[in-house]
Amino acid sequence: LAEISSDNAQVRALNISHRGASGYVPEHTFLAYELGNSMNGDYIEIDLQMTKDGELIALHDETIDRTTDKKGLVKNLTLKEIKKLDAGSWFNEDYPDKKNTVFTGLQIPTLREVLSRFGSNSKFFIETKSPEVYPGMEEKLIDILNEYNLTGAQPFGNVIVQSFSAESLRKIHQMDDSIPLVQLLSYYAPAVITDQEVRKIKEYAVGVGLHYTAVSPGYIQKVTGSGLMIFPYTVNEKEDMKMLLEWGVSGMFTNYPDRLDEVIQMS
Ligand code: G3P
Ligand code: CA
Repeated sequence: LAEISSDNAQVRALNISHRGASGYVPEHTFLAYELGNSMNGDYIEIDLQMTKDGELIALHDETIDRTTDKKGLVKNLTLKEIKKLDAGSWFNEDYPDKKNTVFTGLQIPTLREVLSRFGSNSKFFIETKSPEVYPGMEEKLIDILNEYNLTGAQPFGNVIVQSFSAESLRKIHQMDDSIPLVQLLSYYAPAVITDQEVRKIKEYAVGVGLHYTAVSPGYIQKVTGSGLMIFPYTVNEKEDMKMLLEWGVSGMFTNYPDRLDEVIQMS
């Protein structure tokens, strides 16, 4: 497994299974996470939403519309209602070439279930999604990480928390400054970052994440030269992976961790 030492020096680029090995099986299911691990993914990426009754679940969207058999906002549904959903059949309909009957009826996992199942031999790259919609999300996350002994004395980097919301990350940093944080950034054009922006991010985060098409060698040099790590998302083609590795990224998110593993092994 890739290592991050306490001074952030990396042995090699990190392979992050984006929503699990979601290019092959339905995203954010146990199957996706298992497959990501078996394909040599170093981290399982988990997006968090929160149910009406305050349970953190692994789901990308604020609604259940795209990836289940029903419609609605997660914040209006209880965990019991969420657990009744079929989170696999949509994949068979959308990707008939990858169809498998075992996907039918797969459940949306809670964060606790994921940590129970994978906690001792996996690393997690957890995203607080839409934190403005879910007051208290950060507190819940830290409580759960503590429950599973994944903060404090944990080997550095077993859990990394990421968010597009600087406010959410700052909140987490204030509650527990031992958790490495990654600031996700949105760019509509080639990415540019000022010294001041880098300084601000460094107050609470160890790295940044951004869409891989916005990345340039100059941007990577500036960010890594300042001591921040950089994780482009979501990189699915080997040519792009190879180029980004050559440019010196710290790791990347991919729906195809097997492809990234091959590229890393060859580099
Ligand atoms: O977390 C990195 C990347 O996953 C951000 O985009 O929309 O896939 O969560 P999204
Ligand atoms: Ca994400």
